[in-house]
Amino acid sequence: MRILILGANGFIGSHLVERLLDATDWDVTAFDLNGDNLDAFASSRRFAFTKGDIFESDGWIDARVRDHDIVLPLVGVAKPAYYVTHPVRTFELDFEQNLKIVRMCVAHRKRVIFPSTSEVYGMSPDAELREDASPLTVGPISEMRWIYSASKQLMDRVIAAYGQEEGLRYTLFRPFNWIGPRLDTFEDADTGSARSITQFAHDALTHRRITLVNGGAQRRSFTYIDDGIDGLVAILKNEDGRAEGQIFNIGNPANNASIRDLAELLLDVMREFPAFRDAARETQLVDQPAAQFYGAGYADMQNRTPSIEKITNLLGWRPKVSLREAVRLTLSAMVPHD
Ligand code: UGA
Repeated sequence: MRILILGANGFIGSHLVERLLDATDWDVTAFDLNGDNLDAFASSRRFAFTKGDIFESDGWIDARVRDHDIVLPLVGVAKPAYYVTHPVRTFELDFEQNLKIVRMCVAHRKRVIFPSTSEVYGMSPDAELREDASPLTVGPISEMRWIYSASKQLMDRVIAAYGQEEGLRYTLFRPFNWIGPRLDTFEDADTGSARSITQFAHDALTHRRITLVNGGAQRRSFTYIDDGIDGLVAILKNEDGRAEGQIFNIGNPANNASIRDLAELLLDVMREFPAFRDAARETQLVDQPAAQFYGAGYADMQNRTPSIEKITNLLGWRPKVSLREAVRLTLSAMVPHD
C-alpha cells in the first residue's frame, strides 16, 4: 500500500511516519515545508520526502495523489493563539488548501483520511461528545477562535457530501488534545502561542510563572500520541471496510482533567527528573483573564470528553496511557542531552 502524507513533519505526521515504517510494510511519501522531524527516516527505502509549500505545489501533489492509495492531508494550523491573531490564514490553510486536496482525491478516486478536531463540538452541551449525535455549537463571529472550528466543521460536511454524491471513500478522525514529544516547539512557547502542556513546560523551565487562563477550571481529555497513532493505524488498516464513511473521536476520557490539574501534575512529574527538579520547585501558577492572555476574539469551552464507544466497537481501539505517564513521556523528550 502507498500512503501520501501532506504536512508529514508536524506532530501527528511525524509520529505516524515513524509507526508506519516500523510496524507495516507500506510505502510512505511525505511532503512538508520542513523536514527536520523526518531526518531519522531518510535512509528507509520505503520512505520519500519532498520539501514544498502546499500553496504552490498543485501539479506535484496531484500527480502524487494519482499514484498513491491513501491520502492524509495533515497540513494545517492547530494553535488557538494563532486562530485569533491570524483568522484568515487559518481559514486558507485549514479549509481552502485542504479542499483542493480533497477534490484531487475525488477526481482520482482515492481514499482520504482527514483530521477533523475535537474543536468542532465547540460549546456543545453534551457531557460525552458523540460523533453522529452531538450538536456542534460555536459562538458569534466576533469570537475569532471559532473560525478554526467552523472551517473544520465545513470541511467535514463537504467530505461527507462528496462521499454521498461522488462515492468519495473517506474517514474523519477527531483528535482530543493529543500530547507528546514534538507537539509544539519552545520557539512557539516563547511567544505564548504553544498549546497548554508545551507552554507550561517551557514556562517552568525558563523560570516564568505558569498562566492559568480564566483560572484553569476548564477541562480537556488529554490523549497520548502513541494511543492516537494506534487509532489512526486501525483506520488506515480498515479491516472489513469498518472505517468507511465514518467519523471517529480519538481521545482518552479517563484522562479528563482541568487545566489547573494538568499544570500541577506537570510540576509534580518534573520533580522525578533531576534536571527539572529545581525549576519545578520554584514555579508558581498565576491566574489571568483570557482577554489579557490571548487578546480579543478568544473564547473557550469548559469541558470536552469524547465518547469512544464507536471506535471501540468498530475498530477495537482503546487508549492505554494514563495522564501521568503521558506527561512523563512528554517531559522525557525534553531532558537536555550533553
Ligand atoms: C486545541 C487546539 O485547537 C487544537 O490543537 C485541537 O484542534 C484541539 O484543541 C485538540 O487538541 O483537541 P485547546 O484544547 O484549547 O485547543 O488547547 P490548548 O491550547 O492546549 O489549551 C487548553 C486550555 O488551556 C485552554 O482552556 C487554554 O485557555 C488553557 N491555557 C493554555 C492556559 O490556561 N494557559 C496557557 O499558557 C495555555
